[in-house]
Formats: sequence, C-alpha cells, structure tokens
Amino acid sequence: MKAKQLIAAAAGTAMALTLAACGGSGAGETTDDATNTAGGDSGETFRVGVAMPTQTSERWIADGDAVKSQLEELGYEVDLQFGNDDIPTQSQQIDQMITNGADLLIVAAIDGTALAGQLQTAADNGIATIAYDRLIRDSENVDFYVTFDNYQVGVQQATSLLVGLGLLNEDGSEGDATGPFNIELFAGSPDDNNAGFFFNGAMSVLQPLIDDGTLVVTSGQTDFDTVAILRWQQETAQKRMEDLLTSTYSSGAKVQGVLSPYDGLSRGIITALQNAGYSGTTADGFPIVTGQDAEIASVKLIADGVQFSTIFKDTRKLATQAVTAAEEILAGGEPTANDTETYDNGVKVVPSYLLESDIVYASNIQSLLVDSGYWTAEEVASGVAE
Ligand code: BGC
Repeated sequence: MKAKQLIAAAAGTAMALTLAACGGSGAGETTDDATNTAGGDSGETFRVGVAMPTQTSERWIADGDAVKSQLEELGYEVDLQFGNDDIPTQSQQIDQMITNGADLLIVAAIDGTALAGQLQTAADNGIATIAYDRLIRDSENVDFYVTFDNYQVGVQQATSLLVGLGLLNEDGSEGDATGPFNIELFAGSPDDNNAGFFFNGAMSVLQPLIDDGTLVVTSGQTDFDTVAILRWQQETAQKRMEDLLTSTYSSGAKVQGVLSPYDGLSRGIITALQNAGYSGTTADGFPIVTGQDAEIASVKLIADGVQFSTIFKDTRKLATQAVTAAEEILAGGEPTANDTETYDNGVKVVPSYLLESDIVYASNIQSLLVDSGYWTAEEVASGVAE
C-alpha cells in the first residue's frame, strides 16, 4: 500500500472537511464529508478512484452513483469519472486518479484490453484494482472482479426469446409452439469481455434449436464477429437491423425474433423494425426482442408489449459487492470470492464475486423492479427516470 494522505487522528475530521471544502486534490467529484477512516486506528482517509465507461447508458450512471454513495457512507473520499466511451479519456482519467493519490481503483473498462499500462502504474504505487462488471484483460494487476454470472445472463436472454416465441413458458415448461421461427442474432462489443460470455451463454440454448431447424437464422449470420456491435452503440444496431431487413427480408419472409444483448441495442432494433412496417405489440405479431439492464425506456416498452424482455442486474447489489471488496482490500485482507475458476484474463484467473440476474417480462415488472424500489410505477408508466 502506498503512503496515504496521512491525517492525524485527532484533527482528522476537521482537516478532511477543510480539504474537501477546498476542492480536494484535483479533478472529479469528491466527497464533502470525508470523515471516516479505513484500516483501523491509523487515522488515514482512503481515497477511491471509480472509473465508469459512459453516461449514455443509464445503468452506468446508476452504478457510479451507487458505488460513490456507498463508499461515502463509509467515510471514503471518492473520485468518480465517466469515460464517454472513449478509450484515451478513460486512460487519462485513471492516470489522474493515480496522480491524485488514489488508494484503490474500481474500474468498469471501456476496452477491457486497453488498461494494462494504467494498472501497472497503479500496482507500482501499491494501488489495488477491482474490475467492476467488465473484466480487465491482459494484466496481472487485477486484484479482484465483481460482476454477474455473465454466461447465465446469456442463457436467460435466449430463454426469454424462446418464451416470446412460445417454445417455452415463463415457468420453464414446454410451450405450445413448434416453429420453425425466423430469428436474427446480435452480440455486444467485441472489446468487452462480457459480450462473448453473453453470446456463448445464449448460443448454448439456441444452437441445438438452430441445428434441428426449430430456429432459422435467415441471414445466416451466426458468428460472434459478424453479429457483434462495437461499443454497444444503438445506432450501429439499428443500421445492422435495417441492412438485414433489406438484404434478407425484402421478399416476404418475416423476422419473428431477435436476440439482443442490451436494451440500447434492442431499442435500435425495434426502431428499424417499426420503420420497416412491423407494428403493434408482441401479442399481435411484433417480433420478439430481448434485452439487458432493465433501462427505464425499455421497461416501458415491455409494459407496452413492444419489447418482450430484459435482464435485471441490480446495480445496487453490484455496488455493494465492490464496496465490500474495497473495504477488505484496504483493511489489508483478501476479498471474498465465490468463483475462482471462470474469469481468466489472459494472464491469470481473477478471483471473482458473481451475482445472479433475473429475466424481466411484462408480468413481473411490478415484483422485480417496482417492489424492490429500482423503478417507481410512475417511471415505468412514463419511461423516464426521475
Ligand atoms: C454490461 C451490460 C451492459 C453492456 C452495455 C456490459 O459490459 O455487463 O450490463 O448492457 O455492457 O453497457
């Protein structure tokens, strides 16, 4: 551990407040009540750098806010930055956090392969790094990884597609439909380690049904590199769906289902379908489109019967897990893992804590999202976060 910003125990509170009032030590949001200390009686105030990828997706704003507020409640100083989906911006932000005296980094990478240099500098300064939701690859300096069971998220996405098509019921029992159904596949950003896990999980469910003819990928585009959407961009997904509709579905065939791994992509896909004349709700034949993240605009579309499903990953719980791991590391201990096998980052298997996710259908928006306080009933009705 590097030398900390030493604040004498007796004067700690007052001095920390003064420092915070003076704007702390640089860019970024810092706490204004950095009164507590970690690591026992040393009187040190720990500073945590939190790097999130983007503010264009609501989940990362929620993640950033949750991590920041939970750390602040424990008395840590927090430097929270969002990288605008731009790799150099995120690298510079992390460099800056290190310069500003971070004691620990929590990082959700934009490009999981682009941060080895920053992590090396951090390690050289005794700063531990927790990879947040997205694994950081090609670096031995990833101390811990908190995420969801990403393969299972993919399984759930594909399962919800089958439910929408009527091949399965929501309770997992066999549905009445037999197919064949025309589907198309989308995957996430190829530089995000999660994207492959989602896709492989989904294909573990879909491939046997493609093989036996129940599902037909009409375009023939089934390999990850072809169906991946760089940086998870909604516009790119809309454009690819438009191209598919023109190239593959212009002579009468109808697309009936689309595997989409993220709500932003789902909305782009839905727009392309609507612009091409698909209309109404899934109950009257609008194609089944899946998703991920329970973004409010998509939750409203699900309530309205336009998008069929999404996957709920409770960002509050992930934040809590990251904060718990941060506390354990800053106290000089080992963070508690529940998976020490799955996440090989190319250099080592990173000890991980995996959380579970849930499939959201119109039928369980209330119980999963409203009753848990994730969204209010008003937000679901308006489709806008308040
Ligand atoms: C996250 C997903 C998210 C996607 C796009 C992934 O790394 O795990 O929850 O939908 O990035 O932001």
